Amino acid sequence: MKRRSFTSWGTAGLVALCSAVGVSLGAVVRFLTPSVFYEPPQSFKIGNPADFSFGPPTFLAEEKIFVFRDREKGFAVASAVCTHLGCTVGYFQDDQRFHCPCHGSVFAADGAVEHGPAPRPLVWFEVTAARDGQLKVDKDHVVPATYRLMV
Ligand code: FES
Repeated sequence: MKRRSFTSWGTAGLVALCSAVGVSLGAVVRFLTPSVFYEPPQSFKIGNPADFSFGPPTFLAEEKIFVFRDREKGFAVASAVCTHLGCTVGYFQDDQRFHCPCHGSVFAADGAVEHGPAPRPLVWFEVTAARDGQLKVDKDHVVPATYRLMV
């Protein structure tokens, strides 16, 4: 075999080997990356202001939030996820408190812990008015319990 022929076969083999390694690495990365993210969007519209009544909060089960509407103060959105182990709390209008059915935590109307084992208060989310007039909640944006949106 001539020296030139040996070198060109060697180069071709090296190129083929690098290509195979590159394709294999691409396949591994593609395999390890999820094609679909199942986490629900953290920012979403919940409807028009008129859809919500005054008085007891509206519970949106899918989003796990309570929407409060007050004539003087406006709208506020509280998380329904207990800060202990993540159960869904209920709001009781008669004592105006959130109660967790799992381990008995009680939260005041502003979300403060009144009775453990929950370690932290309930979270409040930012609610804004979208361009189309609907209310928009952003779960990535935590606000103080005093935050309100007047529409
Ligand atoms: S999950 Fe709510 S008190 Fe344990």
